[in-house]
Amino acid sequence: MSARTPIIRTLGVAAAGALALGLTACSGGDDASGSSGGGDGELTTVGFVAVGPEGAWREANENNIQETFTKDAGYELKFAPAANLDQKSQIDNFTTFVDEGVDIILLSATEATGWEDSLEYAKEAEIPVVLLDRGIEPDNTDLYVTRIAPDNVAVSTSVAEWAVSEFPDGANYFTLEGPAGVSVVNERNEGFDAVIGEESSFDKIGAQTANWTTEEGRSVVETVLKSNNNDVQFIFAQNDEMGLGAAQAIEEAGLTPGEDVKIATIDGTRSGLEALAAGDLSFVAEYNPIFGEIALDVVEKALAGDDVEPSIVVDSATFDSPEAAETALPDRTF
Ligand code: AHR
Repeated sequence: MSARTPIIRTLGVAAAGALALGLTACSGGDDASGSSGGGDGELTTVGFVAVGPEGAWREANENNIQETFTKDAGYELKFAPAANLDQKSQIDNFTTFVDEGVDIILLSATEATGWEDSLEYAKEAEIPVVLLDRGIEPDNTDLYVTRIAPDNVAVSTSVAEWAVSEFPDGANYFTLEGPAGVSVVNERNEGFDAVIGEESSFDKIGAQTANWTTEEGRSVVETVLKSNNNDVQFIFAQNDEMGLGAAQAIEEAGLTPGEDVKIATIDGTRSGLEALAAGDLSFVAEYNPIFGEIALDVVEKALAGDDVEPSIVVDSATFDSPEAAETALPDRTF
């Protein structure tokens, strides 16, 4: 595996090209005139039902969206972060945007389920909805224009494939998950388990949520090491922060992360790559949060009534060595 392996080709440009050509399925938006919600000089109103404070990945993603949909670009972005990651606050914000008659809604869902009524309400009001990062379950593609995200299954598959190559004789491993009920957690388990589950030499000690945080990652792994007499060789952390916590717990147990216990994470934030460069992490699969320009392409096409792909995959890469991390760090913006 090369030091920086693009799992999925950059589809930002390709997706924009496909959008421009209107190659596939129907989209929301019935303004055949091709004009966005506003008339001449009016701003297009975008309701962003967001997650809010959750960690470095979320901050980078939501800042990028807000920096893209500016008044200079012709947009009034109404940013509505959840209250303490609470889905009810998201549903209330979503409903308010529909009642206000925004031109389009961007949704990053704190929970995968429970969105049918809200999405139907927006559809009845002919307000298109674009999913950012997080999916919905069941995945009813009639209820939204498209989902823009890296491919979680492919990203977690790359972690599992790295683990199989790193541990030819297998390993005792533990998975640190994001919160239960989040779509990307289910998708990351799906991709990882499909590969590792085929490897009889890998023994799953267990899995537990550490709620995307460093402190909970540290606390969970502290317990796992103690209850398994430190006989753990591999930790799969579904985001960088939890992986950093695992590294702390490993050191506190008198072990060396990257040697006694290897940690693989998802996100590819600056702190994750710095830990990879330092040897505390052993593998980092990027889950690129910077897709504001792709989202803007989609919004323009959806409001013009053009066709939009039902799923738009954002370019992702992997980093498998300190050298790969050091090469990427100077340009890392999140
Ligand atoms: O949905 C993306 C996940 O949410 C990221 O991997 C994690 O860091 C964030 O909190």
